[in-house]
Amino acid sequence: MGEVNTHIYQLREDFMKGILSEKSISDLPHVQFEIWMKEAVDSKANEVQAFNLGTVSKEHKPSARIVYLREFSENEFYFYTNYQSQKGIDIQTNPHVCATFFWPELERQIRIEGTVEFASKEKSDAYFNARPTESKLGAWSSPQSSKIASRETLDRLVEENVKNFKDTIPRPGFWGGYVIKATYYEFWQGRKSRLHDRIAYTLETGNWKIERLAP
Ligand SMILES: Cc1cc2nc3c(=O)[nH]c(=O)nc-3n(C[C@H](O)[C@H](O)[C@H](O)COP(=O)(O)O)c2cc1C
Repeated sequence: MGEVNTHIYQLREDFMKGILSEKSISDLPHVQFEIWMKEAVDSKANEVQAFNLGTVSKEHKPSARIVYLREFSENEFYFYTNYQSQKGIDIQTNPHVCATFFWPELERQIRIEGTVEFASKEKSDAYFNARPTESKLGAWSSPQSSKIASRETLDRLVEENVKNFKDTIPRPGFWGGYVIKATYYEFWQGRKSRLHDRIAYTLETGNWKIERLAP
């Protein structure tokens, strides 16, 4: 561990790739999000659709995990998961979540906060139906976030479901989409000597207030 610790302790890279200014930023955060997402996609950055989703339990205990963004529109961000997972249970009692995207290739971070609602059944069905058969069987077979005895237990559940489902595999009622309705965004661009640009949008009585934050 010594060497690894020494390595990460000393890692220090300057961010030089861009600037973010009030003059050029969009008045609307969903437009700015789209611009940055498009730039991330165009630059072929890795896993642009992955974000860290933070939830808080009934006992006020936070937890976070990576999920995939599957669709976004005006201040709406869709992801798909098991409704009975830990995140699903957290969301049931506390719909407040945060989402963080990190695109190292562009030296950018986007933070979003908001509340979560179920996606429509139609949207969840459409997304589930578009998944490969193996993923559909996986959704049925994994009691996501529950303790299981072994890998074999999981493989057995999959085998059983292969037998159970002949032709069509419907969406399980415990699996589907959520939509985050954003009320706060922060766009972060890495700059030299840790003097990064941070611009935040806060929704106040229907309008987006734009402010710069110290890095
Ligand atoms: C790159 C990546 C993408 C992921 N995408 C999803 C996803 O879209 N939906 C999902 O339920 N889990 C996804 N996961 C798995 C989650 O991180 C997590 O392990 C799982 O959802 C259970 O989380 P929970 O127990 O906190 O509910 C992904 C993991 C990684 C590393």
